[in-house]
Amino acid sequence: MTTSVAVLNQKGGVGKTTVTLGLASAAWAAGLKTLVVDIDAQANATWALGVDPSLSNLGTGDAIKANRDGVAGSMIVRSGWGEDIWLLPACGDLTEREADTRRENSVGRLARALKGVTGDYDLVLIDCAPSLGLNTSNGLAAASAALLVVEPTAFGLRGVEPVLDLIEDVWSNHNRDLDLAGVILNRVPAVSADAQDRIAELGKIVSTKSVWKPAIPQRVIVNTAHHERAPLHAFGSQSRELTEIFDALLRRLRRSVG
Ligand SMILES: Nc1ncnc2c1ncn2[C@@H]1O[C@H](COP(=O)(O)OP(=O)(O)OP(=O)(O)O)[C@@H](O)[C@H]1O
Ligand SMILES: [Mg+2]
Repeated sequence: MTTSVAVLNQKGGVGKTTVTLGLASAAWAAGLKTLVVDIDAQANATWALGVDPSLSNLGTGDAIKANRDGVAGSMIVRSGWGEDIWLLPACGDLTEREADTRRENSVGRLARALKGVTGDYDLVLIDCAPSLGLNTSNGLAAASAALLVVEPTAFGLRGVEPVLDLIEDVWSNHNRDLDLAGVILNRVPAVSADAQDRIAELGKIVSTKSVWKPAIPQRVIVNTAHHERAPLHAFGSQSRELTEIFDALLRRLRRSVG
């Protein structure tokens, strides 16, 4: 069965792409056939997976525009990470798609494009843009679970409620399979009373059991892996601390979403 997850937060730079790529790296190491859907016009996941978004590939924007069952199937390319990790690149004008509010049934378009396609994969990871706009709604409508990435800071917590509201909205209007799988904490300092207080506060907003452990610390190897456009798991002992964390998070994800 395919585990299909949208990784999101309205707030920028919190680690959505880092979590998407970290989970993809854990899947790479476990030999799980994985599809990453890049729905952010910044195309960071596309680039880090070794695909140049400026090449004239078709991609997520084209799939949304086409609005036909299974049309994304022919747009998926093999990533630079090898034969298990595949990519629907952030090509096609995603900025224009974001503004497409006049089109009928806009929110179901990505789900339609992926119909009959996602079943070929063990895991589908949808990397959303820092927005709660149409493209993110499309990502949520195409997923069976949402993963929220949060930094345990005052500003980080302020953005949580609107994301929960959007998940609720997509659930009631477009996708009854959708569920908040959990919240992944990123950039958590080892010792910080403030961060621990924010984590406790977050537990009250989403329920303590929805806040997943382990949390992800800030580590330079994350940037190195992005720069090298390689999976974290390819760095051996240099990345062991983080790969063990992402392995645990992937296990948790597969257990909770099925
Ligand atoms: N745990 C971490 N340790 C070190 N660097 C990190 C960590 N998490 C994220 N970063 C760095 O912070 C920056 C933002 O991370 P990332 O791109 O994953 O966030 P994002 O939420 O996807 O951003 P956007 O909203 O722009 O899509 C990147 O340079 C990334 O390498
Ligand atoms: Mg990103």
